[in-house]
Amino acid sequence: MVDFKLDVAFIDRENEMAELRNYLENRPNSILFLYGPKSSGKTTLMYRLFDQIEKERGYEINFLNLREVFLASYDDFIDAFFKSTEHDNGIKTGIHRQYSLFGLFKLDAFTERMLRKKQEDPFLVMKREFQRLQKKNIQPVVIIDEFHKLDGLYIPDKQKRLMVELMNFFVAMTKESHLCHVIIASSDAFFIEQVYVDSKLRKTSKFMKLDYLEKEDVFTWLSDIRKYNKVKEYTLTREDIELIWDTVGGSAWEIYSILEDLFQHSLGDIAAKIKREKVAMITDWIFRDPVGKRETVLSRFVDSPVLGIKAFSPDQLDTLGLAVKDNILYYDPVEGEYGIQGRSLEWGIKEYFAAEQ
Ligand SMILES: Nc1ncnc2c1ncn2[C@@H]1O[C@H](COP(=O)(O)OP(=O)(O)O)[C@@H](O)[C@H]1O
Ligand SMILES: [Mg+2]
Repeated sequence: MVDFKLDVAFIDRENEMAELRNYLENRPNSILFLYGPKSSGKTTLMYRLFDQIEKERGYEINFLNLREVFLASYDDFIDAFFKSTEHDNGIKTGIHRQYSLFGLFKLDAFTERMLRKKQEDPFLVMKREFQRLQKKNIQPVVIIDEFHKLDGLYIPDKQKRLMVELMNFFVAMTKESHLCHVIIASSDAFFIEQVYVDSKLRKTSKFMKLDYLEKEDVFTWLSDIRKYNKVKEYTLTREDIELIWDTVGGSAWEIYSILEDLFQHSLGDIAAKIKREKVAMITDWIFRDPVGKRETVLSRFVDSPVLGIKAFSPDQLDTLGLAVKDNILYYDPVEGEYGIQGRSLEWGIKEYFAAEQ
């Protein structure tokens, strides 16, 4: 292993972890959707959960991160979800576990061939596997990250949307048969909204939001980067930490980026550069709209980083949707709120409009 000058650490997510564990310790009864702004730490939290409960007997965790998977056809889906035991040799799941588990369900070669020839129903294969595990007193858990990537795939011959069928299947597996726990994560606000407006799915699901880190946790972390990140070259004063929090808030990814730059540059310069970049990003986004709708919508956020949907008119919905798609805003369908995607972008918006006046 190479020793880097900045180690990554996992910063406390005690409450969120407890909520996930509570879900798993109850009888399967609903799908759990984990959502939240981009880079809030969803994937990291799930890997953590996976590591924790994997060590405990009695669970069989199937973790699939679709971000790493190429999905263009139904066959790609079969490849991603199922893995023949014949192909097992060579792939050491133990070592690479953390970042790539190939295939959710292990199959015998016969079933795999049948699946590929579409003479076997993948949903039945999964159900049989859950039943087999439950008979052995093992609780199956399915975790799928970036689930929305399945959108656009269809079940051959039936012309049904795979994503929809899979979700219906998971409803049956949780609420109806209580066979397995299902955790689905996605940063795609449009996907979460689709799930949420579907009354059947909403009633059979739980929604858990993962936001950026809290101030207290960021302060605990940054007060001791020697302990958390093995940084020896510098330490951070209380004022430094205040400035970092003020600039990027609890976005762990941006905090790491600052810690990396601090080996080279002063914190004042780094913070100023981040703000300039965000102003440029907002300027560019607004500039691309000749009729000025984008500017009107974003101007509403100068005084408040989060706004309920009622703050807007229906003819602004398309612009809001675009802002979500372009990662300027996020949408929380459960709360019915739009918010700026991170503290640093709040600065971008504030300073853009300050300069306009
Ligand atoms: N609890 C945490 N402690 C430290 N770093 C974190 C934590 N959660 C996330 N990060 C870092 O933030 C970045 C984004 O996290 P990620 O899990 O990919 O977000 P998401 O899946 O929500 O888009 C990663 O580089 C990760 O290392
Ligand atoms: Mg992720």
